[in-house]
Amino acid sequence: MVAIDENNIDHEAIREAGLILRQGGLVAFPTETVYGLGGDALNPDSSSKIYAAKGRPSDNPLIVHICERLSLNRIAANVPEVAVKLMDAFWPGPMTLVFDKKDIVPKETTGGLSTVAVRLPSNKIARELIRESGGFVAAPSANQSGRPSPTSCQYVVQDMDGRIDMIIDGKESVIGLESTIIDVTVTPPMILRPGYITAKMVEDTVGSVALDPAVFGESDKKPPRAPGMRYRHYAPRGDMTLVSGTHDRVVAYLREKLADDRLSGKRTGVLCSTQLAKHLDADSIKTYGDLGDEEAMAKVIYRALREFDDENTEVIYAEATTGEGLGQAIMNRLGKAAGNKLTVL
Ligand code: TXA
Ligand code: MG
Repeated sequence: MVAIDENNIDHEAIREAGLILRQGGLVAFPTETVYGLGGDALNPDSSSKIYAAKGRPSDNPLIVHICERLSLNRIAANVPEVAVKLMDAFWPGPMTLVFDKKDIVPKETTGGLSTVAVRLPSNKIARELIRESGGFVAAPSANQSGRPSPTSCQYVVQDMDGRIDMIIDGKESVIGLESTIIDVTVTPPMILRPGYITAKMVEDTVGSVALDPAVFGESDKKPPRAPGMRYRHYAPRGDMTLVSGTHDRVVAYLREKLADDRLSGKRTGVLCSTQLAKHLDADSIKTYGDLGDEEAMAKVIYRALREFDDENTEVIYAEATTGEGLGQAIMNRLGKAAGNKLTVL
């Protein structure tokens, strides 16, 4: 493991990491969303190694990370006008676009698809690493398949130590949820995975946007268009429920539930705002800040889920948020963690 300060980058360490990638090895690195597990995206063997290290099904495609817009032309067959507008607005940053791919991108990287997902991250360590590695880094989140995405190096070590060649510690991820994925091969563009870049932000930029109906499980027939969204993800070992409603009702409901769970000898946990936490008594209470502060909530979700597991929490309640704006991504991730169990009061 090597610690690198984003504001005072150790170029020698990044060159060494870049060399590992060029030689077909794997390096975990920070991005502004979550930590990534990087390999050379144009080397089919590297992509196969990524799947093996994560224990991930190899039909689940990887996002190709680039460090400058120019690189896009080497891997995307077609760059529509809406994509240009979105890139102007949100790159570098937490947005991934899906394009038709060029032949240079191996099918191992795209899970056999004829499209490629591309992201230009804003994190400076990530960008310099991508440059040093030759310019194209395939990087899924650096967790074991089915575990929450890592938002700090400690969790990358927990999941990947001994399985990969190097881990770069670049502090806490500033966003905490994975990038928004937008398919620009269809009209209007379609959000396949909600994230920090919200539907409203996309709409304001390109006029109209669709949301893959499978994102919130609204379509029983059609599978999600981002293959990874169909896997059970982020599920804590405890039995988790989302709770939404007016403050007083939520307080009354949770006090009763927590008391019952306690009586039956279960370890209880709650993920909520400081306002709600004041009124509750549980074995483990994790707060994110003020009610409605969705940026703060996004940052703590994955850490909280991992901590509940580490503490053997058996019953978990999480305070729901709006499904609007950044709340859409939060409810998507929390909903998956809870197996879509939502109590509305
Ligand atoms: O913020 C992020 O996007 C992080 C950081 C490391 O950049 N990466 C990340 O990668 O979340 P991963 O592999 O955990 O999730 C990628 C998602 C999966 O759901 C996958 O199915 C989808 O992107 N995806 C990748 N390529 C695709 C394609 N060509 N078409 C549709 N979905 C695609
Ligand atoms: Mg992932």
